Amino acid sequence: MTLASDASRSDPVRLVLCGAGHWGPNIIRALLDDRRVRLAAIVETDPARRQALESRYGVCTSADLEPHLRDPAIDAVIVSTPAASHASLATAALTHGKHVLVEKPMAATHREAEDLCRHAARAQRILMVGHVFLFNNAFREMKRRLEATDFGRLLYLYARRLNLGPVRADVHAGWDLASHDVSMFLAIKKTLPVTVTASGQCMIRNGIPDVIFANLFFPDGTCGHIHASWLDPQKIRDVVAVGERRMIVFDDMSLQAPLRVYNHGFDRLAADDATAIVDTFGEFRVQLKQGELVVPPTATGQPLAAELDEFVSALIAGRPVESDGRFGADVVAVLEAIDRSLAEDSRAVAVAS
Ligand SMILES: NC(=O)c1ccc[n+]([C@@H]2O[C@H](COP(=O)([O-])OP(=O)(O)OC[C@H]3O[C@@H](n4cnc5c(N)ncnc54)[C@H](O)[C@@H]3O)[C@@H](O)[C@H]2O)c1
Repeated sequence: MTLASDASRSDPVRLVLCGAGHWGPNIIRALLDDRRVRLAAIVETDPARRQALESRYGVCTSADLEPHLRDPAIDAVIVSTPAASHASLATAALTHGKHVLVEKPMAATHREAEDLCRHAARAQRILMVGHVFLFNNAFREMKRRLEATDFGRLLYLYARRLNLGPVRADVHAGWDLASHDVSMFLAIKKTLPVTVTASGQCMIRNGIPDVIFANLFFPDGTCGHIHASWLDPQKIRDVVAVGERRMIVFDDMSLQAPLRVYNHGFDRLAADDATAIVDTFGEFRVQLKQGELVVPPTATGQPLAAELDEFVSALIAGRPVESDGRFGADVVAVLEAIDRSLAEDSRAVAVAS
């Protein structure tokens, strides 16, 4: 895709936010802090919410996106409505020549996500997906360390995203919570899993799993496990990468130590390695190593502000974005495979590419 650079522009980037429920106000606050941006309008279908937003933020609101799409002064639309409406709203914005940042999950089906990528390519507009953890400094540092040669081979990944609620009615816990972990696993592995298996339970509402256990099997043999739940009273949000030489824990609930590196691992010993002193049969082929625990410093900064900065900067510079439509479509492909496995008694399901 070729995007025209707008680096010389002196006027602000004019944005419309579509949908401002629970998450929208976070976006509004970050946008109001960015001098390069003018939040031209908030489109919200709930009249009471419109009134509250207008008096709180002093931004004009409306119920209909269409007039803003026809306004040539609007550069871009941020879609933060429930997932079922993402594809239609984002398509409308792209076909009117607007750049789009759409919240995760990008669309309700993989086909819709692929169509959105095609619309963006045809319109030569930026299509970015709000996978906010890709802009989290602790996660970025974790990824950098996983890519460093001294990490050794990555053996497996697991993630837990547990809390009591908030319970969504439109999507299940996989699409709501596990979408974050799928995005991080894909960013780490830089490839799609070949197959997925999943099991889950519907405790609150029929047909909407509130607890999910998913396994992602990557081409090189790495396995990624995700436990997502709306029913756990203890809030846990972590992503763990276990390697031959180190383990890295990204604990999003910890302010003091969001990243911990355990320099523990094992060495494989050749059967004829005369220098190896082993005491038990279990240690004969593998020698365990207990190293130090390191808490690396991580830069402060709001991930959502960094995500929005990426969108606005790319729009001005005419460059591609991190977390683009292609990446978002891959996340949706994995979520769809999780759905199929859930519906088919945890059968291993191939991931569409
Ligand atoms: N990145 C994150 O960490 C994160 C966190 C929370 C939510 N989200 C995502 O943000 C999106 C919104 O989530 P939420 O929790 O704010 O949902 P929500 O239901 O609280 O809010 C959605 C809002 O959109 C409005 N709306 C619905 N259809 C509309 C339309 N056609 N035009 C204008 N407004 C419309 C609703 O009235 C509501 O106020 C979801 O896709 C969700 O997955 C992302």
